Amino acid sequence: MISRILVTGGAGFIGSAVVRHLIQNTPHEVANLDKLTYAGNLESLASISDSPRYRFYRVDICDGTALDTVFAEFKPTAVMHLAAESHVDRSIDGPAEFIQTNVVGTYSLLEAARRYWNGLPADEKSAFRFHHISTDEVYGDLEGTDDLFTETTPYTPSSPYSASKASSDHLVRAWHRTYGLPVLVTNCSNNYGPYHFPEKLIPHMILNALAGKPLPVYGDGSQIRDWLFVEDHARALVEVVTRGKVGETYNIGGHNEKRNLEVVQTLCDLLEELAPNKPEGVERYRDLITFVKDRPGHDLRYAIDASKIERELGWKPQETFESGIRKTVQWYLDNRLWWQRVLSGDYRLGRLGG
Ligand SMILES: NC(=O)c1ccc[n+]([C@@H]2O[C@H](COP(=O)([O-])OP(=O)(O)OC[C@H]3O[C@@H](n4cnc5c(N)ncnc54)[C@H](O)[C@@H]3O)[C@@H](O)[C@H]2O)c1
Repeated sequence: MISRILVTGGAGFIGSAVVRHLIQNTPHEVANLDKLTYAGNLESLASISDSPRYRFYRVDICDGTALDTVFAEFKPTAVMHLAAESHVDRSIDGPAEFIQTNVVGTYSLLEAARRYWNGLPADEKSAFRFHHISTDEVYGDLEGTDDLFTETTPYTPSSPYSASKASSDHLVRAWHRTYGLPVLVTNCSNNYGPYHFPEKLIPHMILNALAGKPLPVYGDGSQIRDWLFVEDHARALVEVVTRGKVGETYNIGGHNEKRNLEVVQTLCDLLEELAPNKPEGVERYRDLITFVKDRPGHDLRYAIDASKIERELGWKPQETFESGIRKTVQWYLDNRLWWQRVLSGDYRLGRLGG
């Protein structure tokens, strides 16, 4: 029985959606283990942080000794591993941190989980789960095809980010084959929704538009991504950790292939409707779109075949792109304090230990 879930990276964009979902919609106890890098924001957990079923550990997943203490104290029945460096552009500018957290950190978490798991009684040992959360970017590029990524698509990662995630996926599967650790792996497409850090495409565009700043689109904006609303992803992850088959991989996607330019234009049109009082000098939000030099190694198309998780676990996204993107824009309009404190850096004040 799953009852105490250790979520790594629970102060990040997707991790915080998972923690909120677990506290609001399940009876489980949740421990959030997060280093609080620039991407970690405890203010994203304000709605649930008073719950007696929630606790927080500020720990680096590379610190094996600290991990042992958390495992011994919280006694998880499952681990959901989301902690990672996640921004492709940052991985191009400085790959070292990505190797450290995504590869070495995943290794150190696997070893801590294995030490703890080895000491469990037989029934708890077989019920234990280690769920690794990964990305569709490990599969590389689908340029010029109608293909979809399936669970058996070979790995051909393009960026330091996706290569580091691919490495971590291999480690997790090896810990299953070699040591029998009961693992599950999920590979998901691009997420969007509330509490998304402003450096990522969708929030970056919304906030720039509201400030009357240019909306920088890479290349000609023809790159295709398959977009999934973050709360649909959180529901899928909880289905997998509680009901998924050990050793299996599940692809998660939204059936929402959109060109980047189309996404930015949709945001502009929604802002015309929902935020008609534009900054001075801006006639139409779409006029702010500018094209900038493409990112090196930029994959043209990602698209997920999510039929396995639908068939085996009955999960389907509840939001269409149209409903989810409208909710997202409205959320940024209604929650200005959250992102203003991110932009000003104030969200980092008052953290335990600085
Ligand atoms: N964002 C997406 O579209 C997407 C899609 C598919 C998969 N994923 C994967 O989902 C996971 C979460 O993504 P996200 O967008 O929420 O990321 P994020 O960058 O918003 O959050 C990452 C979290 O991990 C924490 N963290 C970073 N290094 C750490 C360390 N060494 N020890 C402990 N905590 C650390 C950060 O403080 C932050 O809270 C990642 O593994 C990512 O690869 C993301």
